[in-house]
Amino acid sequence: MLERYGHGGDWATARELFGANGGPRQFIDYSANMNPFGPPAGVFELLRNYGDAIMIYPDPAVRGLRNKLARHHDVPMDSLLVGNGAAELIDLLFRSMRPKAAVLAEPCFSEYREAAVKNGANVEAIELRAEERFRLTPEAVREKLAQLRRSGLRGGQTLWFLGSPNNPTGQVVDAAIVKELLDEGETVAVDEAFMDFAANESELGVLRDAASREGLIVIRSMTKFYAIPGIRLGYMAAHPALIGRLAALQVPWSVNSLAQQIGEAVLEDTRYARDTIAWLREERQWLRSELAALGLVTYGSASVNYVLSAFPDKRSWTSARLQEALGFKGILIRDAAHFVGLDERYFRLAVRLRPDNELLLEQLRQLLSTNPQAASREAECE
Ligand SMILES: Cc1ncc(COP(=O)(O)O)c(C=O)c1O
Repeated sequence: MLERYGHGGDWATARELFGANGGPRQFIDYSANMNPFGPPAGVFELLRNYGDAIMIYPDPAVRGLRNKLARHHDVPMDSLLVGNGAAELIDLLFRSMRPKAAVLAEPCFSEYREAAVKNGANVEAIELRAEERFRLTPEAVREKLAQLRRSGLRGGQTLWFLGSPNNPTGQVVDAAIVKELLDEGETVAVDEAFMDFAANESELGVLRDAASREGLIVIRSMTKFYAIPGIRLGYMAAHPALIGRLAALQVPWSVNSLAQQIGEAVLEDTRYARDTIAWLREERQWLRSELAALGLVTYGSASVNYVLSAFPDKRSWTSARLQEALGFKGILIRDAAHFVGLDERYFRLAVRLRPDNELLLEQLRQLLSTNPQAASREAECE
């Protein structure tokens, strides 16, 4: 399986699984949700001129980038911490807080559960339901809160870790839910790794509140929107007191100087951001309607660059079989059956540029009209 290490975008595993028949061909990657435009042009400019900078240590306090992020989000600089990808900050938060319990709304990004378990927290899951299009409802939140109180857990002992937009479902958490939890004295981390893709980010996101409101932490990733996953860059907004505690726990120089410089450069490119958002709005809608025309069920919101898709019932095709058949054709998809709460009907697709999407749809059209066993045999012989 492509998700051997828990995530999409694993080209080394893809080469092992599908590469023998595919030769040196590049994969078209629908399994990781990257901006398909590639990094902003400024990144390549920077790489050409980077040279001497590797001979000095990176700024341990990441001042240049934090300063730019502070202006970008209109929050004080001391409410921001930069990390080696959002993944580092998820882990850091759990390590620092060591909560007794972690409330997760599943299916969600697997690292929340990993970090909770690694740090000794009991996972208190809220099950998101397909019938509710995987929305987190105020009723489910209140029920969980009552359950926590019954088991003697008070605010401060529990960390609510919510994805917004949630991966893989694409749903945004209602800001009113976050507020209600904070008013109850709960600590809430909102992972907004994909929020930059939303056209109305300032209405949907809660990052600005995190700078002033104790108990609220917002995590952002720069790797998806700016297509720099190999560089590793993410940041967190929270009350300065918490930021100070987390910074003290962080490995020194965890954000290398190239990542810092790239972070600063990409924030300057407002045109790249505008163009991405405008393109995504159209392409996502088109891809969803084409997938629906193939008889697939799709989930998500208008704000994300991926589509959770499902076979309408448990028939002969499964997500694993589809992943394999497409893999041998050079197309990688995410088998979403590995997310807690989903089964073998579900797979996740990134939204890519039109020529790739047409190719994907053509392959899907052909495969779904055949028997999966026959499709696997044929693919392996190609
Ligand atoms: C919801 C979510 N949060 C965080 C991350 C980690 O992002 P980064 O590449 O910045 O570590 C991912 C990566 O897939 C993700 O899907």
